[in-house]
Amino acid sequence: MGERRYRVAIVGGAGMWGKHYLKAAADHDMVDPILVDSSPRREEFAGNLGVTEIYEGLDDLLAKDTPDVVCNVLPVGIAHELVVRCAEAGVRVISCEKPIAVELSTADYMVETCRQHGAAFGCATAHWEVPFLRETAAWIADGNIGEVTSVAIPGGLPVEVSGAGCVQLTQMRGVTGCEVEWVEGGTLPPLSGYRAPEADDLTMDCPAYGRLGLTNGIVCEVLEPRSERRVSCRVSVTGTKGKVFMQSQGNVYIVGTGAGATPVWPDFVQGERRRSMASRLQCLLEAVDSGATEVPCSGHDYRQALEIAIAIKLSAAAGNQRVTLPLADRSHRILPHPYRRLGGDVAGYESIGYDGPPKAEGHS
Ligand SMILES: NC(=O)c1ccc[n+]([C@@H]2O[C@H](COP(=O)([O-])OP(=O)(O)OC[C@H]3O[C@@H](n4cnc5c(N)ncnc54)[C@H](O)[C@@H]3O)[C@@H](O)[C@H]2O)c1
Repeated sequence: MGERRYRVAIVGGAGMWGKHYLKAAADHDMVDPILVDSSPRREEFAGNLGVTEIYEGLDDLLAKDTPDVVCNVLPVGIAHELVVRCAEAGVRVISCEKPIAVELSTADYMVETCRQHGAAFGCATAHWEVPFLRETAAWIADGNIGEVTSVAIPGGLPVEVSGAGCVQLTQMRGVTGCEVEWVEGGTLPPLSGYRAPEADDLTMDCPAYGRLGLTNGIVCEVLEPRSERRVSCRVSVTGTKGKVFMQSQGNVYIVGTGAGATPVWPDFVQGERRRSMASRLQCLLEAVDSGATEVPCSGHDYRQALEIAIAIKLSAAAGNQRVTLPLADRSHRILPHPYRRLGGDVAGYESIGYDGPPKAEGHS
């Protein structure tokens, strides 16, 4: 029998973030990569990585073939349409980027359509942007820091409650294994240039903080962001016998209390740290093999993150009043920065601080 090969399409693979997905696919020994991108950059991006199958639009590809995996690395305003089209075409494993959608009902529709069609649906890379998230969750669940007593996002959500905040909210849910039952939120004025022109005070994306009531009865404190102090720790978990700080530079694990508290290195941190793109791709390939109906770091996870972000905004607008989840009204929305909604080719790459369009890269 020949070696198993996977056909993986990267839609938006000539974009700023999609180029990393394209490279991970092109670098993988068992993947036949396909580039789908509407920009004229696609020929050069594909050529540099030896990718030979190239399409301008997803429909051109789906008319010919159903790949094993489709990664939609697209502006948020259009990603949902392509996710749904993949599910309807019978693609087994589908991913998109973050935030999952503008409107909560759209996120619901994406998750439900994938489920109905038996597609495993993943979203973005939060689980790999801090090291060993799942191993750390299991280590905490094994009682290594005793009983969990508090959880925090110590730097708050300093830029966008949805656009970037969805990553920390997903990490917090991932490491605790808890859902959020209620929210008490506050917001700060939007950062310069981040307010979508069409957004009102309720729908604009902005920095945020608050308290999140988790299903295990614990409260996650999301501290008020302070501009003079960027905090590297994304999420911390405190127990009766220790504490964990999760951060991209390397997690800190402390066991013991008072004068006996000391840093420790759980066995799994000796292993190789898995970086976001290759790990995300591997996780999607494993879902093809296992027939899983959901992939870790899922569309469901990011739908929950959007719902929490919206609840924070609703609570802030109501004077920090407690808002319970799930939200009954699914028409609420958070309008992201125009770059996130429309993409660099429409909103301008400079609009979010890049020097210009992405540049093609070769193999490592
Ligand atoms: N840039 C980052 O650092 C970063 C980090 C994390 C997540 N993300 C997320 O990744 C997604 C994409 O962001 P980006 O920065 O790569 O944007 P981008 O505008 O650079 O990339 C989007 C790409 O999609 C292509 N495209 C647009 N419409 C298309 C269509 N209908 N069919 C095929 N191709 C199409 C564009 O030509 C472009 O190459 C967003 O959800 C964003 O929030 C970006």
